[in-house]
Amino acid sequence: MKKVKFCLIGAGRAGMVNARNFEFNIAESEVVAVVDSNLEAARKAAEELNTNDYYGSFDEALIKSDFDAVCIGAPTFVHCEAVVKAAEAGKHIYSEKPLSISLEEADKMERVIRKNKVKFQIDFMRRFDKNFLRAKKLIEDGAIGTPILIKSVGRGPGLPPEWYADLKKSNGLLAEVNSHDFDSMRWLIGGNFKQVYALADNFKLPQYKEKYPDFYDTAAVILKFENGVLGVVDGCCPATYGYDVRVEILGTEGMLQIGSKQAYSVMVWNKDKNLISEGNQSWKTLFKDAYEEGARHFVNCILINSEPKVGIIDGKKAVEIVIAANKSIKSGKPIDL
Ligand SMILES: NC(=O)c1ccc[n+]([C@@H]2O[C@H](COP(=O)([O-])OP(=O)(O)OC[C@H]3O[C@@H](n4cnc5c(N)ncnc54)[C@H](O)[C@@H]3O)[C@@H](O)[C@H]2O)c1
Repeated sequence: MKKVKFCLIGAGRAGMVNARNFEFNIAESEVVAVVDSNLEAARKAAEELNTNDYYGSFDEALIKSDFDAVCIGAPTFVHCEAVVKAAEAGKHIYSEKPLSISLEEADKMERVIRKNKVKFQIDFMRRFDKNFLRAKKLIEDGAIGTPILIKSVGRGPGLPPEWYADLKKSNGLLAEVNSHDFDSMRWLIGGNFKQVYALADNFKLPQYKEKYPDFYDTAAVILKFENGVLGVVDGCCPATYGYDVRVEILGTEGMLQIGSKQAYSVMVWNKDKNLISEGNQSWKTLFKDAYEEGARHFVNCILINSEPKVGIIDGKKAVEIVIAANKSIKSGKPIDL
């Protein structure tokens, strides 16, 4: 059987989650090369992923190694360059979210992907999560009537790497954590964003105030969709109590919730304390199966030559709303899209 050969670009937290799936959990794929600007990180990852092929730059891997696709886990500000180089070399692309830093970058990425006819999938893993898929189906089947209001809580646990604090390199919390909320809301509601108003502040990380004055760790966002549905996103990182993802959709005939804390926690009542709750601590565990399903979907799309169901337009729409929300935070005004 032919296996799809991957080169991992960026062997950090997210990159390794996907690379392990491609190497160990999906029979039709393997990781044959690893690139990381930190050569020691590349070496260690290559060792774990059963390959001797590792490099400090993607240019070197393109010359010396042989692969069909890339798995991009490098920081957000590297995505555009990596996607453009991969597409121009005819490699299929599985990339981390957020798609890019700017819409200009996103347009460039879309052009080069279309021109070179390579497959592109963005890692919005909620699209492959069984609870999100069930909710989508229930909405389509009319279980709650017509959706009128969607609320999404997206709170990340540990503090991400420092580049995330620099909004020029990441677009901040709303991009790095809440782009998942924006994407899944747009998908569940089946409509694009029309207007956004956002407030945000740095409550928890005074050490960043001088170096990164635009940095915020908590945000409240109000949205309106083109089809009239209202939306609310509540984001925070670091949320020290764990990884918290909850969505509630109010419809004309009912209400639907995804991911209540109880659904993935153990609760204990005893004489010493009223309640001890062991909640989920990490995105890696909560969405373990969804990451694997997303990766498997991409491999399958390459093998049977079909289009991945989460692509460049989904990535662009999430970048567009994040940039508008950040504009709203800066200006204090609602922004039309
Ligand atoms: N889908 C998800 O749920 C999810 C979860 C976490 C992170 N992410 C995304 O993954 C990306 C990486 O985040 P992370 O937390 O894994 O970061 P990280 O810092 O843990 O990993 C990034 C890795 O890329 C390497 N790197 C930096 N510049 C590079 C370059 N030019 N070429 C090759 N390698 C380079 C770094 O040395 C590091 O090993 C971000 O875009 C982030 O938003 C997505």
